[in-house]
Amino acid sequence: MSFQTLDQADLQGKRALVRVDFNVPLSHEKGEDGQVTDDTRLRAAKPTIDKLRTGGAKVILLAHFDRPKGKRVPGMSLKPIVAPLAKVLGVPVAFAEDCIGPKAREAVAAMAPGDVLLLENVRFHPGEEANDRKFADALAANGDLYVNDAFSAAHRAHASTEALAHRLPAYAGEQMRLELDALDRALGNPERPVLGIVGGSKVSTKLDLLRHLVTKLDKLAIGGGMANTFLYAQGHDVGASYCEKELAETARDVIRLAGQNNCKLFLPLDIVVAEKLAPGAPARVRDVGSVDDDERILDAGPETVERLCRAMANSKTLVWNGPLGVFEIPPFDKGTLEAARYAAKLTREGKLVAVAGGGDTVAALNAAGVVDDFTFVSTAGGAFLEWMEGKTLPGVAALLNRDNRAR
Ligand code: 3PG
Repeated sequence: MSFQTLDQADLQGKRALVRVDFNVPLSHEKGEDGQVTDDTRLRAAKPTIDKLRTGGAKVILLAHFDRPKGKRVPGMSLKPIVAPLAKVLGVPVAFAEDCIGPKAREAVAAMAPGDVLLLENVRFHPGEEANDRKFADALAANGDLYVNDAFSAAHRAHASTEALAHRLPAYAGEQMRLELDALDRALGNPERPVLGIVGGSKVSTKLDLLRHLVTKLDKLAIGGGMANTFLYAQGHDVGASYCEKELAETARDVIRLAGQNNCKLFLPLDIVVAEKLAPGAPARVRDVGSVDDDERILDAGPETVERLCRAMANSKTLVWNGPLGVFEIPPFDKGTLEAARYAAKLTREGKLVAVAGGGDTVAALNAAGVVDDFTFVSTAGGAFLEWMEGKTLPGVAALLNRDNRAR
């Protein structure tokens, strides 16, 4: 992939419009401004911001927060991000109450090289999600160059992720570069054999993903609630488990497609069941197919996890999306945590390249305490999935093959 990075940019005195993803979890208490409960995405933006500041640029941050649908919604302001961001960066951060128009213009005019300014939520304007040309022009008026550092929003063809890239010299930020490099190592040009783990509850949300992965991977392990649908499709009784029975034929298609593409499919051998999903609920290990009517499958069993760990040890690359069980509620966290810790061990020993992403996955790796041991953990949710599905991400496509000197 060929895109321009900040090493190729002349930054001194330039107004750099930087698209970041500050869509972070906020907790609201007693009507006060929200508190950031996970600053991973703020920390992820620091290398790009530091690099721009060191180069003498004025750093103007563009971001969305939540889904205000083109209207100004006070509870969806980016203002609560200012203080935690200033703390992460170790420098003051100014704020403008609009991302275009006089408020933005005046705030930008007041900047000196090295300053950082955060503009209000781009999604307060309907032109953002419409990828509107006029709105993109209004954003571009405040910049000399554009940097996209928001891989996790790159699956959206919005004005600040797509149209703006065509209006100014456009560069990939440091986080964007890291994400694209890691994903290329996992699926683009991986060291083989490559093993995938796809978990989570719904087959219906991951059909495109499964269909694409079986054409790319050497081995694929299916876990979590979605494995129940596959077990059911193979004629096993799943008791009172969550199961998308109407997708049985689709699951059989995925199994056939895997066979045609020489992708070895791993479905559970044994499972952990309980009558109730509650912390500490009495749990039993069963072979697949011997689940009682009132039992629910809530985790992968020990034999399944052991076989998965052996598959990891025999692979060079692992790409992981989705937990193997209900990892939020012990004892149903065991399968996910053990597999995550084993992947981390192999990675620490230099035997495995392990890349993971998607909302629940990051939370599961955090619960296992291994996020820092993986080769790369993506900050993206939907964008990571769409990339794994083989889709073109508009925000990435807009950065590719650009010759900024020609402008
Ligand atoms: C995310 O949190 O995954 C990104 O910021 C995208 O947010 P969206 O799904 O509201 O577009």
